[in-house]
Formats: sequence, structure tokens, C-alpha cells
Amino acid sequence: MTQDQLKALVGRAAVDFVPAGAIVGVGTGSTVNHFIDALAQHRDRIAGAVSSSDASSARLRAHGITVLEAGAVERLPVYVDGADEIDHRGCMIKGGGAALTREKIVADLAERFVCIADESKLVQVLGRYPLPVEVIPMAVAQVTRRFAALGGTATLREGVRTDNGQPLLDVRGLAITDPLAMETEVNQWPGVVTVGIFARHRASVCLLGTPQGVRRLDF
Ligand code: A5P
Repeated sequence: MTQDQLKALVGRAAVDFVPAGAIVGVGTGSTVNHFIDALAQHRDRIAGAVSSSDASSARLRAHGITVLEAGAVERLPVYVDGADEIDHRGCMIKGGGAALTREKIVADLAERFVCIADESKLVQVLGRYPLPVEVIPMAVAQVTRRFAALGGTATLREGVRTDNGQPLLDVRGLAITDPLAMETEVNQWPGVVTVGIFARHRASVCLLGTPQGVRRLDF
């Protein structure tokens, strides 16, 4: 099976985690696009969606699914999103698609985070995938120096602005053995909008696409 077929497998499987009548949190990326396409076939049994990016909102609307503002809801029963890496505790690196800030905001509203990914995303230690960090422009140089002090090399993602209009750094060379500690530390640095470590908002469930079918991990 191709990687895209594995993504489609888990995208379809995640629909079973959406309760009838729910407003569902929807992430961003190629795996989530499969989820949105599968969700469209059940649009009459959901109340709508809160989306983490302009791209996902456009895809949801194109399928006739109502998109609500995050500020209009207090709780979501479930948030479905992909990951760039996930470890065996459900901690993730996210933000490869530049949507990390809105993803963390929507994840924060949700009772349950269902991560959907192909099996290549499961790792022992986070950090081989470059860590995305959304930063206010004035802080880019200082945040780059702070990562260097931790052994990481931060580079600006050329020609990219987030949906919030901010630049992104990608940090290479970090072995994130304690994701919660690093997320907490980087969150303190002035000018950091969002670090793409999802440890406080780690997955509750991960559906991994494998050639043998969907492998479910509960955390
Ligand atoms: C978007 O900013 C990311 O957090 C995505 O969830 C992540 O990059 C996974 O993307 P794919 O589903 O395209 O692999």
C-alpha cells in the first residue's frame, strides 16, 4: 500500500470516533483531508466542525459541512488531526503544514484527541522531524540562539507565513526525550507563539495505518 492509501485508511476509520450530533474538531494536512472526505458522507449526522486552518475550512465547506468559529463553542467531544511524529506516550510533533497554533487551540477545546497517521510517524524519541515553532518576527534571532544553546539548529521556513501571518522556524538536531519539559520551557521564551510539541495536548488515541490494517494505540 502507498503512504497515501494508509492515510486514507485511518482517515475513514476516524469517522467512527465522531458521536452523532457532535460538533467535531478538525485538524490540517493530507491525512485529515481523507478524514474530511469520509466525514462528508455522514454530514447529516453531525452539527458542524471547528477547523484548524483556512485550507481545512474550505474543504469542509466544499462538502457542505458547517464550519463554526472556535469562539462559538465551549467543548468539543473529539478533535481529529494528523501528526509529523508521535511517540509511544501519545506526544507529538505537529506543524509541518504550518497550522500548529490553531491546531493547539482547537485541541484545547476537545475532550479527546484522535491522532491519525501512517505507521512511519511512530517514533521512539521525538525530534528527527524538524520541530516547527511559530514566532513573532522580532524574536526570531533570539529564539534561534536559545535553540542553539540546546543543541538545535533553527532555520526560517522560507516564503511561509502561518494563517496568523507569523513566520515559522524549523529546528533540527533536537532529541526530545522529555516532550512536556521542552514544551513548557520553549513556551516561556518571549516571542514564541506556539511550539509544535503536543505533550500537554497529546493524543488520547492514535489510529496508525499499516499494510495489515488500522492499528489502534490508546494512551
Ligand atoms: C499541520 O500543521 C500538521 O500538524 C499536520 O497535522 C501534520 O503535518 C501531518 O500532516 P500529514 O497528514 O499531511 O502528514
